[in-house]
Amino acid sequence: PAPPPAYRIGFSQCSTTGPWRQAMLAGMKRELSFHPEVRLRMLDAHDNSRVQQQQIRELVRGGIDLLIVSPYEAGPVTPAVEEAYRRGIPVVLLDRRTASGQYTAYVGGDNLEVGQTAARYAARLLNHRGTIIEILGTPGSSATSDRHRGFTQALRAEPGLRVVGQVTGDWTAKALPALAQALKAHPEANLIFAHNDGMGRGAAQVCQQLGLGKKVKIIGVDGLPGKNEGLDLVQRGLLTASVLYSPGGEDAIRTALSILHKQPYKHENTLGTLVIDSTNVRTMQQQTDKVETQQQDIERQQGLLQRLQATYASQQVVLYGLLAT
Ligand code: FRU
Repeated sequence: PAPPPAYRIGFSQCSTTGPWRQAMLAGMKRELSFHPEVRLRMLDAHDNSRVQQQQIRELVRGGIDLLIVSPYEAGPVTPAVEEAYRRGIPVVLLDRRTASGQYTAYVGGDNLEVGQTAARYAARLLNHRGTIIEILGTPGSSATSDRHRGFTQALRAEPGLRVVGQVTGDWTAKALPALAQALKAHPEANLIFAHNDGMGRGAAQVCQQLGLGKKVKIIGVDGLPGKNEGLDLVQRGLLTASVLYSPGGEDAIRTALSILHKQPYKHENTLGTLVIDSTNVRTMQQQTDKVETQQQDIERQQGLLQRLQATYASQQVVLYGLLAT
């Protein structure tokens, strides 16, 4: 029988739908493949705070050495996370935050900076004069409130830019009918800031349906590789820009392991951001392609190593057999 895992990490994930969450999980698994002594148990809350609270408590009851949480909404899951923390279970917040300072470490992008970056880019793009519609993520999620706050703050320095409409997208296509209304009510609108690329992609479709062509510039957030994702959308001109927001799965596991191994770690682990637009999208694509190839190489080598270990183990059996006779 395999030895029991040295560490059990519980992961409460707000949702597993969409390529961004998939990339996060893939990153975690990639990092964990170097640590077979660690077991990860993930529960998916399907974008439901009540379910997420229950799942956090379930993970704690089941026995974990560390909890990673990506909260759907900040407020509702806070008590369950605080309970875990007060029991002495280290807590790593990933991508989104709770409403409390009771956690061991945060790993993720700076969403305030994401909003500010989008606003500054919009200002330059529009030559400091224009009319904007904002599509927000789920209300109550820290990524939404911080992106919105950063965007609004940075626009205060831009008297020529006005936000005339705000629609809530819930990170999905839900906002699109309301967006169409807002665009009809404000035909002068010339920029949309969508809190993620998925909603930006939907906004591009709506603009097309309304016959607005490329008159309305769209800025998204995430900048993922892959067909119909941020890099591709920028490359094809459907988005003018995407503000990079890394899923951070590898980083979360690395921080978790430092905490478990009682090694030094940082309380705030901010992943960097940058604007991806037509000037650098090719370079970004080449970089992600290269990382992808390297990852495949690593997997091939791990496969080879496992086969060698299996051969070695069976040779040992034969050898012991021979010695025994
Ligand atoms: C995926 C997602 C991303 C976004 C992040 C914010 O679930 O909506 O598109 O950047 O979550 O937490």
